[in-house]
Amino acid sequence: MHVRRKLVAGNWKMNGNLAQLAELHAIAEAARAAGGVDVAVCPPFTLIAPAVTRAGGAIVIGAQDCHAEESGAHTGNVSAAMIKEAGGRMAIVGHSERRAEQQESDVAVRGKAVAALRHGFVTIVCVGESALDRAAGSHVDVVERQLEGSLPDSWEEGELVLAYEPIWAIGTGNVATPADIGEMHAAIRRHLVGRFGDSGQRTRILYGGSVKADNAAEIFAVADVDGALVGGASLTADLFVPIIEAAARS
Ligand code: PGA
Repeated sequence: MHVRRKLVAGNWKMNGNLAQLAELHAIAEAARAAGGVDVAVCPPFTLIAPAVTRAGGAIVIGAQDCHAEESGAHTGNVSAAMIKEAGGRMAIVGHSERRAEQQESDVAVRGKAVAALRHGFVTIVCVGESALDRAAGSHVDVVERQLEGSLPDSWEEGELVLAYEPIWAIGTGNVATPADIGEMHAAIRRHLVGRFGDSGQRTRILYGGSVKADNAAEIFAVADVDGALVGGASLTADLFVPIIEAAARS
């Protein structure tokens, strides 16, 4: 029986500025006080270095994406090496907004995950079905295919983390039910253990999609939920700290 330490990671998306980094002070305080929970915040690239200074070690600071290569002619992109130099220690890859807006394929996501892991990052690979997939009853198959295509075959450095984020639950307030979450997390766990054995058992699986203070405890109580990837409710300490506290209590 593996005890997986809960991870609560904030995804600021294209939000935030230098003034908003003041929120990190209270978030870091709460992370220290809660104990036993890993807390991370992924701001836009431009805020990573100042966020690291503000966070003071109590929270991991990460990026919302990284390029698969180290450097080169890739205008507008940022590599894992650059994120690391700025103090980042985590990367989210394959978020559904990037899969949709940047047309990122599973193969592209896999390349990014490999790069992030190579730099020793905690690497959060996101998967999740659309409302149409769910209506068609193909949600588990869709996520299985994403897992097959997006995950590296092995990794020596860094730590792989999965995030199940049903697209229809992101930013909508329509949180998935505990039964929906339980069904998918069990399927993801089966895939991870079947493919990676013991390390698949240790891999954390986060739920993401409209996680808030008032639903966090119920979500953390579901089997195989090892934390949350939080968008809107990670932008201020008032909203984020109760989620950290719920994870600590679970
Ligand atoms: P949300 O976003 O919490 O605002 O729904 C979650 C995410 O996209 O990671």
